[in-house]
Amino acid sequence: MSDFTSSFWAIYVAVIVVLGVLFNLWLLLASGRVEVMSKDNSTGHVWDENLSELNNPMPRWWVIMFVLTCAFGAIYFVLYPGVGSYQGVLKWSSTGQFEQEMQEGNAQIEPIYAAFAGKTTQQLAQDPQAMAIGDRLFMNNCAQCHGSDAKGAVGFPNLTDTDWRWGGTPDAIHETIVNGRTGIMPPQAEVLGTPDDVENVANYVMGVAGIAGSDPVRAATGEAKFKMICAACHGPDGKGNQLLGAADLTDPKGWVLGPATKEHIVSQINTGKTGVMPAWGKKFTPAQLNVLTAFVWGKGGGQEAAAAAAPAAPAAPAVEAASTAAPAAEETNK
Ligand code: HEC
Ligand code: HEC
Repeated sequence: MSDFTSSFWAIYVAVIVVLGVLFNLWLLLASGRVEVMSKDNSTGHVWDENLSELNNPMPRWWVIMFVLTCAFGAIYFVLYPGVGSYQGVLKWSSTGQFEQEMQEGNAQIEPIYAAFAGKTTQQLAQDPQAMAIGDRLFMNNCAQCHGSDAKGAVGFPNLTDTDWRWGGTPDAIHETIVNGRTGIMPPQAEVLGTPDDVENVANYVMGVAGIAGSDPVRAATGEAKFKMICAACHGPDGKGNQLLGAADLTDPKGWVLGPATKEHIVSQINTGKTGVMPAWGKKFTPAQLNVLTAFVWGKGGGQEAAAAAAPAAPAAPAVEAASTAAPAAEETNK
């Protein structure tokens, strides 16, 4: 009833319910009174010459059942919601029952998860019991999209490789699972201009991605538009941006939405795509979310957290230098 802004419908329903019960009782009383219609106790209707209808009272057992049914209804309406917005003496609600069952279920599994408390994602990924639970959670909740082997399908990322749309560190995977992700690429054909421009940019992307058959003249013409428009999300070097979930275009192995072909690139430019990874933060307990994170992390593509990856740190400035060098190279191209 809380879905309605005025109490009109609550009252409407309450009146119908109460009148319904009263009407039934009245019906019983009214029809229970035996009116003598004729001397031979018949209604006077005769069929097939001698088949007549007697005017007997209703059987006692039937009357008692009828009264009991009405009494049951009345008691039910006092205890449970049903009469308009009245909540019932027991204050029962389906949401309340669901939440109580959830709480009981969570209390039951708590001792199992208590053993995992305080463990890092890396440690959980080494724990066979945690991984067995992670496997079951994944099968029941994630496999329909990501596949039972977590290797994904068209439109759904492979979670077992090192190509990450949104990042493969424990924190990034946890964030992806808890809050979900929405990767949005709007159609770009109009922004680019003519179908010819689309063709040129597609050829440039083929070159960047290492797909055979890129026309060098078209690619060179397409580069400027790529750097002006596509680079905003995919980066000037096309290596993608994990803050936006924008794919790494230099590595078509990790492409999710289609094969490494010119047709896919052109159709992606023309139609764009919005990919939605649902949020799971409300469905699972924090401990379950940690186990799921570790399960995905341990599937083969997990990366170390930035702080823990000390040995890899010296490489970072080099990458940065490379990406800042790209716009400079573009300048000299002009
Ligand atoms: C507003 C940001 C944005 C812009 C601008 C943009 N993209 Fe994208 N692109 C994305 C995102 C996000 C995805 C992933 C979409 C998804 O997962 O549903 C994507 C996916 C793609 C893919 C498919 C990769 C795969 O996994 O199959 C290609 C190819 C692509 N973009 C090329 C381009 C080109 C070429 C341009 C310029 C004409 C461009 N994009 C402009 C954000 C953008
Ligand atoms: C309804 C389908 C669907 C379900 C169910 C689903 N996912 Fe996803 N998931 C997606 C899509 C689509 C993406 C890609 C979003 C994008 O970038 O466009 C994704 C992305 C991801 C990513 C990021 C991959 C990357 O490359 O960064 C992870 C991690 C992930 N999902 C894990 C899970 C887990 C764990 C579950 C189960 C709790 C799950 N997903 C359930 C559709 C789904």
